[in-house]
This record gives sequence, structure tokens and C-alpha cells, in this order.
Amino acid sequence: MSNKKQLKLGTIIHGVGGNIAAWRHPEVLTDASVNFDFYKEQAQKSEKAKFDFIFIADGLHINDKSLPHFLNRFEPLTILSALAAVTSHIGLAGTVSTSYSEPFNIARQFSSVDHISKGRAGWNVVTSPLEKTSLNFSKTIEEHPDHAKRYRIAAEYLEVAKGLWDSWGDDAFIRDKDSGVFFDPEKLHQLNHKGEFFSVQGPLNIGRSKQGRPIIFQAGSSEAGKDLAAREADAVFTGHPTLEEAKKFYHDVKNRAAAFGRNPDEILILPGIEPIVGRTEEEAEQKYQEIANLVSIEQALNYLGRFFEHHDFSQYPLDEPFPELGDLGSNSFKSGTDRIKQEAREQKLTLRQVALQSATPRTPFIGTPEKVADRIQEWFDSKGADGFIIHFNVPSHLSSFIDHVVPILQERNLFRKEYEAETLRGNLGLPYPENRYVKNTIKTR
Ligand SMILES: Cc1cc2nc3c(=O)[nH]c(=O)nc-3n(C[C@H](O)[C@H](O)[C@H](O)COP(=O)(O)O)c2cc1C
Repeated sequence: MSNKKQLKLGTIIHGVGGNIAAWRHPEVLTDASVNFDFYKEQAQKSEKAKFDFIFIADGLHINDKSLPHFLNRFEPLTILSALAAVTSHIGLAGTVSTSYSEPFNIARQFSSVDHISKGRAGWNVVTSPLEKTSLNFSKTIEEHPDHAKRYRIAAEYLEVAKGLWDSWGDDAFIRDKDSGVFFDPEKLHQLNHKGEFFSVQGPLNIGRSKQGRPIIFQAGSSEAGKDLAAREADAVFTGHPTLEEAKKFYHDVKNRAAAFGRNPDEILILPGIEPIVGRTEEEAEQKYQEIANLVSIEQALNYLGRFFEHHDFSQYPLDEPFPELGDLGSNSFKSGTDRIKQEAREQKLTLRQVALQSATPRTPFIGTPEKVADRIQEWFDSKGADGFIIHFNVPSHLSSFIDHVVPILQERNLFRKEYEAETLRGNLGLPYPENRYVKNTIKTR
């Protein structure tokens, strides 16, 4: 056992799958998205494999074209609380939007999950790309904040949440029955935040957790998204079709973090991948085709439309160049839609090709266990990733990865055999965040 830096691995649990038709695969439980036993099994399986965390993605607006999983699924904080009770080491991360919630509630709820799980909570901070989300929150579509404003809100929101999480000093609660002293008033801090979007007095009515505060994940890839991640996040989710792009993103975010005065090693870059493992190349390819073949071209066009504000792509000829869309999509999933447009232009793709590729992306992580392990190592060693957030459409694909790829990674000393710590922060190798008020005391001493 050396002290060599190791990979961090998380898995997305998303019920009937992150693909529009995967629910029809013979192995997929059709009620998986609202089946607690399924979530429990996936979380426990991931914990047995010593993964760093499981992740529950989320959104706040659906329509009849949304992915089946999005139509009928658990709210992240609720399912994470339940999973906290049936796991002991694995991190528990979930998405909450900063555009449609209040920092006091969310800081409190994540802190509660952090306490319930004894220091294993993580929050994926997103800004809600879908403009019709506003209609579920007593607002008009016009009141949905634009991309830049959403990120300004998110930055201030995180500042408030982090401030609230420092409301109490680590040892503020004395709880001495004899003297009748419950807490030390010197260690109770009122935030008194007044900013552009939020006015929050504090303090928060829950203290610091075993890992100080929840881990902050961020998944924005636009300029504003990368800046927010570089300033505030402990880990970044991203997605890249090639190692070259992954390396570019990796260096970009690490450099931005350094420019904000942070240690670049303390922000982890975790690309999302969907490994499909077979005993042979052919078997892996067949497993991929089993999923890809479930998607019809109509479904693929609908799926593509979701990224472009539910644009109707059925109006264009399928086998001609991808249509010119102008600015469409730049106010929602900006980095994703920019990439789709750019790839279509550069590779001269037809609409059919773009739609099918976006519905079931073919990733470089399909093949034999050795090939998948080699790719993972290559991305890690060449600084394209500090680890990965892995997603699976079919439960046995997770099992194959755990049974056949993880042992190779362990053999190569790239992944742990035992958890190093009890908290998510500890396992991610990130330092305990000192309470800001303690830091200030030290500074002024
Ligand atoms: C692995 C991964 C997970 C994501 N999870 C969510 C999610 O749960 N909810 C959501 O609204 N967006 C999610 N996103 C999308 C991002 O939050 C973001 O909107 C997108 O990457 C576009 O970047 P931008 O906001 O900087 O334009 C995820 C992205 C990635 C790469």
C-alpha cells in the first residue's frame, strides 16, 4: 500500500435509467424510480465496492416528453435520509436547485442529512436550466432568471449556506446538566447577510456536522458554471466525449481554482461516464446495442429537444445536416447545447445522427474489464479526471463493473480496498473546513 493518490468513484442511482427507453430493458424494474428497495440495494452494493458516494440527480419541471425516470421519482433529500439509515460509509449526494429554494431551508435540510448520516452528505448545486420550472414556483416564464443571473444567485446562495453552516462553533454545545449550561454563547454566530438576492439573519438551528459541512458538488460547464465551481465547489461533475476535452476542462477548472486562491488539489474533477463491460469486446458491444436499440428516432428527437427548450426537431429532415438553431438552448443547458451544435458542425452530422448519439451516447468506456480499467487509468494518469461519476442504465452493468473492473483498479493500487475515513470529506481526501469565526479569531490574534 503506497500513499499514491487514488481515484474517487461515485455512482448515480436513477431508477429506470437516464435514457429515454432503458426502462424497457428486460432487466430493469419498471417501478425502480420509486422503489426504495431498489435504491437501498444499489447504495449497499456501491458501498460494498467502497465507492465514495452515490448521487441522486433532480429537476423541478416535467412534461409528457420528459425521461420516464423524471416523471415519477423520489425527491433527493428524502431518499438520501432513508439511505443514510441503511448504509454506514458511503457518501450521500443529491441535487437541489438554488434558483427555486431558500438557502435557510436547504442549508438546514442538508445539515440534517449530514448529521443523520454522521458526516456523509453532499449537495450538487444546480441552477435549474428549464425555464418552465418557474410555473411550479408561483412565477411566470419571463421571471425565470436568465443563465447569468442564475449563477449570480447560486454564488450568493452558497455564500449564505456556508455562512449558516458556521453558525455554531464545533464545540458550542456544552450540554452540562450540572451547571445548566447548554451552549457557549461566544460560539453562536449570527450571519446578518444582506445581498442582492437574499437577506438572512441566522443563526441556523443546527450545528456543524462530523465533516464540518456537506460536500459541495457543482456541475456547470459554462464560463459562469466553471467560475462558480472553481470558487465554491469541493468536486465538479462534468461530461466529455474525449480525453482531450476532459484534460482541457480539468486544467481550466484547476487553474481557475488557483486564481481564486485555492489549492487545486482540493477541488476534484469527476467526469460522468457509462461503462459497459463484457467478457469480450463483442459482448460489451452487444450490451450497448441492447440499450441503443430500444430508442426510436421519434424518442431521440424528443430527448434532444429537451436540451433546446423542448424545441420540436420533428419539423426538420432527418438525414440532412443538423439545423441552424441560432441562440436556441443557450439559456438552458448552455454548455451541453453549445457542444452539440459545435460537434454537429465540425463532424458534419445529420439530425438523425445527433439525436441518436445524444439519446444513447457511445462512450470510450465500453469493452472488456481490462480495456475499461485502462481507459479509466489513462484519464486519471493524464489529468483528465480525479475520479468518475458513473451511471448505469441496467443494474447488472453496475454489478459487472464492480465485479470485474474494480478489482483491476484495486490491483493497480488506483482504488481503495477499504474506506480510509468515516466521512465523505475524509474519503474524498479533502481537508476539514475550519469554522470562519475560528479562522477570524486566529487571524486577529
Ligand atoms: C454528472 C452530471 C450531473 C448533473 N446533474 C444534474 C441534476 O441533477 N439536475 C440538473 O438540473 N442539472 C444537472 N446537471 C446539469 C448541470 O447542472 C448544468 O446545467 C449543465 O452541465 C450545463 O452547464 P451550465 O449550467 O454551466 O450551462 C448535471 C450535469 C452533469 C455533468
